[in-house]
Amino acid sequence: MTPRSQQEQRKKEHLAIAERLYRQPEFDRDQFAQVRLMHPVLPETNMAAVHLEQLLFHKPINYPIYINAMTGGTAEAMPINEKLAELAAHFKIPMAVGSMSILKSQPELADSFIAARRLNPECVVFANLGADKSPQFAQEMIDLLQADALQIHLNAAQEFAMPEGDQDFHWTDSLNELQKTIGTQTPIIAKEVGFGMSAASQDSLLKLGLENLDLSGISRTNFITIENRRRSQALVSDYSDFGLTLVESLLSRLALQQATSRTSKITFASGGISTPWQAIKAFALGADFVGMSAYFLHLALHHPLTEMIAIFGAWLTEFEQMLPVLGCQTIKDLQHIELILSPELISFTEQIGLD
Ligand code: FNR
Repeated sequence: MTPRSQQEQRKKEHLAIAERLYRQPEFDRDQFAQVRLMHPVLPETNMAAVHLEQLLFHKPINYPIYINAMTGGTAEAMPINEKLAELAAHFKIPMAVGSMSILKSQPELADSFIAARRLNPECVVFANLGADKSPQFAQEMIDLLQADALQIHLNAAQEFAMPEGDQDFHWTDSLNELQKTIGTQTPIIAKEVGFGMSAASQDSLLKLGLENLDLSGISRTNFITIENRRRSQALVSDYSDFGLTLVESLLSRLALQQATSRTSKITFASGGISTPWQAIKAFALGADFVGMSAYFLHLALHHPLTEMIAIFGAWLTEFEQMLPVLGCQTIKDLQHIELILSPELISFTEQIGLD
């Protein structure tokens, strides 16, 4: 057996456990069933008028859907990142790599990260690091990938559950430093890893000058559950209700905007999305871009690239075709659709002060 560092072993296990969880729909709370959209009976538009191409971080992309952070640095990661990079290049969509923190101690493991750029030379690629990393290391990682932006993952709950996790969460000074040095050259995206962001959390990041947020809410990819399965002694409590869903995080963003006029410049929405209809609803709640991880992992693990292109191509076509049904031509139009929220979500909006 190839010798593995603890970090390599962890990353390998993350892939396997996340895929197992994704295949268990009973873990899904179907947050999107609680959001319904009003459609016009006279849409007065058509498919030809739909326009989804735009610039992201100065580069053209075809769709506002991105492959979110997952992996790199292990043998298992190479074929996954290669396929995802080719998929991203084919559809001209952004792609994030998984945490590159492992390269601090094992720089020889860079190849599977670099694959994300090697096979996708033109399009938007995000590097990914933890909040405690130095600006110098962050710049090295950006250079390695010729990354267009840097995702900084904020994962206290994951570290808590991780058997070998870090229990020191003093991140503000380091984030401040990263924003002042790296952030002035390369856009930074402050990112959750699947526990969502309250209005107060979003505001604390905005006040640090971190204006691009990935709200990544609760989904089947639950990093407390994933780390718990890696522990020799399981956690005592059940944390399945820890955090906020993406829907709640997007409503929290609207509440913050309403109360303070402050809001993320670009809102990346992820956590629990696998269908075009769920993505449409995330846009209707204010997302600018919608990301998926577990969906793409599942695709990459079970299909050759040609099938991935066919399956995700059909996903994108269905997404595009739904816009005119809703009387929409652009993502901006989707953001203005009238919503009907479930009583549970209405109670949530009342409690966070959103009218
Ligand atoms: C992740 N995610 C993640 N996020 C991050 O910022 N850095 C990372 O290294 C990883 N690693 C990782 C591995 C695997 C196998 C998965 C499935 C996910 C979290 C991911 O980017 C996203 O925030 C959550 O997975 C929620 O989205 P989905 O999976 O519900 O689409």
